[in-house]
Amino acid sequence: MTKFLVGDISDLEDGKLINITAGGKEIVVGNVDGIFFAMDNICSHAGAELHEGTLNGKELKCPWHGAKWDITTGNLIWFPQNLQKLESYKVVIEDNILYVET
Ligand code: FES
Repeated sequence: MTKFLVGDISDLEDGKLINITAGGKEIVVGNVDGIFFAMDNICSHAGAELHEGTLNGKELKCPWHGAKWDITTGNLIWFPQNLQKLESYKVVIEDNILYVET
């Protein structure tokens, strides 16, 4: 398990998204009501970068074709066809600094 720096928790307000590259993986980190979650940043439909989408509660909407993802699990919530699940990652906070473990 490797830990990657995301940033200060104050830089990621409620409902906001940020992206990092961690060990060759593209990861999106989001703030859902003060709790932080991370999952793959590349939509498994056609490759959009999900940090450019919108976060409404735990629902992250893809900016390209509107697939809705659960940022807390990486599961697909809605799309007309089934899409491959995205991987979710553990977020760790130490001294108000966010890290993602992969
Ligand atoms: S690329 Fe995300 S829904 Fe099409």
